[in-house]
This record gives sequence, structure tokens and C-alpha cells, in this order.
Amino acid sequence: MSFEPRFSLAAGRLEATGTDLCQVHTLAMQRLADGEDIIMMSVGDPDLATIERIIEHAVTSLYRGRTHYSPGMGELNLRQTIADIETQSSGKLTTTDEVIIFPGATNAVYSVLSCLLDADDELIVAEPTYIGYQGIFQAIGVQIVKVPGKAEDGFALDAAAIERAVTGKTKALLLNTPGNPAGNMIPGDQLRYLANFCLENNVWLICDEVYSMITFERKHISARTAAASLENVIVIDGLSKSHAMTGWRLGWTVAPVNVVAKLLNFTSATIFGCSQFIQDAAAFAMQNDGEYIQSITREYKARRDYACARIEQIDSLQCHKPEAGMFLMVDVSGVAADGLKFAQGLLHEQGVSVLPGEGFGAITKNFVRLSLTHSVKELEEAFDRIKKFVG
Ligand SMILES: Cc1ncc(COP(=O)(O)O)c(C=O)c1O
Repeated sequence: MSFEPRFSLAAGRLEATGTDLCQVHTLAMQRLADGEDIIMMSVGDPDLATIERIIEHAVTSLYRGRTHYSPGMGELNLRQTIADIETQSSGKLTTTDEVIIFPGATNAVYSVLSCLLDADDELIVAEPTYIGYQGIFQAIGVQIVKVPGKAEDGFALDAAAIERAVTGKTKALLLNTPGNPAGNMIPGDQLRYLANFCLENNVWLICDEVYSMITFERKHISARTAAASLENVIVIDGLSKSHAMTGWRLGWTVAPVNVVAKLLNFTSATIFGCSQFIQDAAAFAMQNDGEYIQSITREYKARRDYACARIEQIDSLQCHKPEAGMFLMVDVSGVAADGLKFAQGLLHEQGVSVLPGEGFGAITKNFVRLSLTHSVKELEEAFDRIKKFVG
């Protein structure tokens, strides 16, 4: 008798997430590995190195024997650090019981959605939506209700449209501010209004804020800062972007105590605690990062300004200045049938890899997303090539 491999429904649903949209990036990675001169602007992994003091702290911690199992909630020192920062920024006393550590924000989003939603529950998301959520939605099998942002206004959140989308089946609203891909920031009054609207309608408000520390003209406002009541508000953040620590895998959730208790059951059943030495280094990073955050924010702002200026010089391309983060959305409708065609052509002819906008929703089909994970010097070459391609 031959073995017949049988898989779960979730595994089948996850298979459906691999699309053409990532093919440009995958092909670019292959060509790069083959030694070709490819400029990768299709992934949000900071080019900056994790600062040395954080690395040294992790190494010292390893030598100190911090190599054992860690509590499921996370190390107390890190949770206290996050709670203190949260108390200071939100003006609301935050305790360590409201903080739980995950190996990255992705895992935090997965755990939070798994904890709150069953297959077929409705989850409202604002479009454009971070492409990385797709697999999580598919694995859980949740019903996604997409609410497009205002394209003419840099994809600003349409709070009235979100309100209209809430039905008796809606269980949660997932927001992302500052947003990937558009770098838009949801104003505090809108967050406050939506948090209250969700509360009145028995809906969770989940807010992914992983770009909270990379803002240019104004400070980030967290959903927890904005909300009048925190009963239904869950915030997710992490160190991947702000501290150039993508590979360290460190994220967290700040949520009501009853939610954190449930999340602990999920993490206990899956990850069984994050690495001690990484959490030690993360706490150290967050306690000593004032100047560093200022310097990387300056750097990303310089990149954004340079990139926007270069796009402005190309008549057939348009962009809206992002307020935060490390991405730029470029409208390519003046030169290509859609973002996918543009991305394929640009890689083929000029060796620049960008992400087709359709991955973030139908609303950005005619856009491509450029990652500003290159120095201004490197961006110069990238935009020279883009100009040649468009020309
Ligand atoms: C909005 C958003 N959330 C989460 C993540 C992933 O964060 P982490 O590396 O902490 O899993 C990303 C990465 O691009 C992102 O853009």
C-alpha cells in the first residue's frame, strides 16, 4: 500500500498565497545569487546593521549563561521596559501583565488573530494592507472585509467606510499605523473614534505599529494612546524595523490582561518562550536607543526626500510623500498596464527589483512599492536605472 499524503485545510489555504506578485522578488533574489548586479528594492529588511552595543550585550548575555527556557510571557526586565515606555508615551499606567513577548511582530499578529478569530469570522482590514498578513489570514481561514483607503490622499484611512463595513459578523478591525506600504499615519482623533466605535459594536481593535519609531514630520500616535478605553484595544510592535533587528525576531503585544492570559496559552503551545539573550539585548536596546532612533529617522527621511525628488523629475511617475516608514508607493499607470508589468519590465531591463502594488490590494494595482533600504548614494543608481527604464 502506498502512502497518500493528506494535509490540513490550513496547509491547502496557505498554498494559495504564493502568487505572481512575489515572483519578481524571487527571480531577483535568484539573479542576485547568480552574481548579477541587481538592486533589491522589493523587501523591507533594513540595510543598516544592528548597533554594536546591542550585539555586545547579547554576546555578554550568552556568556552569562542566558541560554535557557524563558517564561512564556517573556522576560520580566523586557516586559517592564516596554510597560514603562508605554506608560510614558500613552499617559496610561501600563503593567507587565499587559505585555507579552513574541518572536517578531508576525508571530504576534498570528497569535492575536488565532486567539480572537475562528474560520469564517469577519475581520476588517484597511487597504492597502501589508502583504505579509495574507498567509496569516489564509492559515486561520478568516473572512477578510477590505476597506480601501483614500488613494488621492496617500491612502489615508477611510474611517466612515470602515464604520459602514462593520456588521453583526465583524469580530475585529486590524489597522496598521504607520502603514506599510503607503507610510500613512492614522490621526489620533480617528483612532480614538474607531476604538470607541469598535467598543460599542463589540469589536476588537488590533493595531500593528511596527513603524512607530520611524516617523518624519510628526510623532506616532498609538491606538492605546488615542483610545478612551483600552478594553478592546490590542497593540503590536517590534524591533525589526526601528532597530534594524529583523533577524533577531523580537516583537510584543500590549493588550488587556484577559487577552494576554489567552495569548500566553497560544505561545505556550507554540513557541514555549523566546530566547533569553535576545530579550536581554532587546531590553538594553530599548533603554539606550534615544540617539540611535533619531539618527535612523534622519537617514530614512533623507532617503525619502531624495526618492520623492527623483520621482518628481519623471513626468510619467507619481508618488505621495510617505510620512513614516521605509517605503515609497509609486503610481506607474502613466507607463505600464499595471504594477506587475512595470516590476517585471524593470527587473528584466534594468535589474531593479520592486514589489507590484497589487500584493497590497486591488486599490494599488497600478503602483509599485520601493523599499528605501539603500543609502542615498545607492538610491542614485537605482533611480538612474528607473529613469532609463521609463524613458
Ligand atoms: C506592517 C508590518 N507588520 C509586521 C511586519 C513583520 O515584523 P517582524 O519582523 O517583527 O515579524 C512587517 C514587516 O515588513 C510589517 O511591515
